[in-house]
Amino acid sequence: MNDLSQKSFQTRAVHAGERVPPADYTPVASPIWPTVGYLYESMDDLDAVFAHTRPGQVYLRYSNPTVEAFEAAVASLEGAQAAQAYGSGMAAIHAAFLAAGVKAGTSVVAALDVYGATYTLLNSLFTGMGVQVRMVDVSNQAEVESAVKEMNPCALFAESISNPLLKVADIPALAEIAHRHGASLLVDSTFASPYLINPGALGADFVIHSATKYLSGHGDVLAGVVVTSQENKNRLFETNKLVGAVLGPFEAWLALRGLKTLPLRMKQQCQSALQVAGWLQTRPGVKKVNYPGLPDHPQHALADRLFENKGYGGVLSFEIDGADKSKVYRFMESLTICLPATTLGDIYSLVLHPATSSHRSLTDEERARVGISDGLVRLSVGIESVDDILADLGSALAKI
Ligand SMILES: Cc1ncc(COP(=O)(O)O)c(C=O)c1O
Repeated sequence: MNDLSQKSFQTRAVHAGERVPPADYTPVASPIWPTVGYLYESMDDLDAVFAHTRPGQVYLRYSNPTVEAFEAAVASLEGAQAAQAYGSGMAAIHAAFLAAGVKAGTSVVAALDVYGATYTLLNSLFTGMGVQVRMVDVSNQAEVESAVKEMNPCALFAESISNPLLKVADIPALAEIAHRHGASLLVDSTFASPYLINPGALGADFVIHSATKYLSGHGDVLAGVVVTSQENKNRLFETNKLVGAVLGPFEAWLALRGLKTLPLRMKQQCQSALQVAGWLQTRPGVKKVNYPGLPDHPQHALADRLFENKGYGGVLSFEIDGADKSKVYRFMESLTICLPATTLGDIYSLVLHPATSSHRSLTDEERARVGISDGLVRLSVGIESVDDILADLGSALAKI
């Protein structure tokens, strides 16, 4: 740092205390680096960083040390070569599709049961750009095979555990079909998190997380990440330098901090969700419970195989018998521990009405085709005492 003692008050206000040379100690927790630009000894050094012939940072839209720490941590948890962070899960999904080659004149085959914004991204934005999209039931391999054969897609997309119907995707089987036909497999693994499954190890080419959910875990940050090979990461990186859908250093720091308790939170949430799902099945006002941990779930055995008995996730959904929107709203408003908020994967227990929130952008016919009724409620089980969660659900059910 230059000696500023002889400089004016105005100049010292700008420069004093800044650009202290690196310390010879290492902070235990990763620092937040909220800087846009960087200084080097010489312009040649900066030139070499631009040219990738020496490591370094040049600009916040390109990369950032705090964001890189988060990316390295997620890549490690997924057992993958690399990760590229984004400002949201949707930005990550969009980027992964582009990296898989989606553009005008190409086609995509995707699971019918996916997060509403993903559905709309595919069926509105992408189709409007001249991409052909076919939505299929990915639990029906014959249907997937024939759609892939017919469409010759560059990307096959599924959620490892689907939102909101909790279907489990057979990732090795989907990877086999995709690769045999020259397509990339994209898996949104937001609901499962790397605690339950590493889709990349099972053949997925791009694994996507809304890091807003389990990875961060505390309902205070919007973030996304794509986990993939180093080669794909380089392409994602170059595109994001142009597009700028970046994660900021403050959000990256929160997400990195959240990751540290992912296994502890997931263990608790999986245990509690299993108990809540079993309990809901015994309630008279509940028609159907969707949760892969239940023995009568159509992919229960698959979930056991893929998740290696670590659990079945913290989200479940259930249908309130004969309920319309107003009855479901009354149920949700009667809850005091489970909060009606439009997110999931937090430490808080959260309920959501898919028909009027996450899947609101679908038409009535589309929701009917997916299987989302007006009586469907999604519950993301938090880390509160499971007894308190059950008592809350019980008293709200009794009020409708
Ligand atoms: C399965 C799934 N994928 C992606 C997203 C989008 O993530 P974000 O809200 O971080 O953009 C969500 C959001 O709820 C989701 O549930």
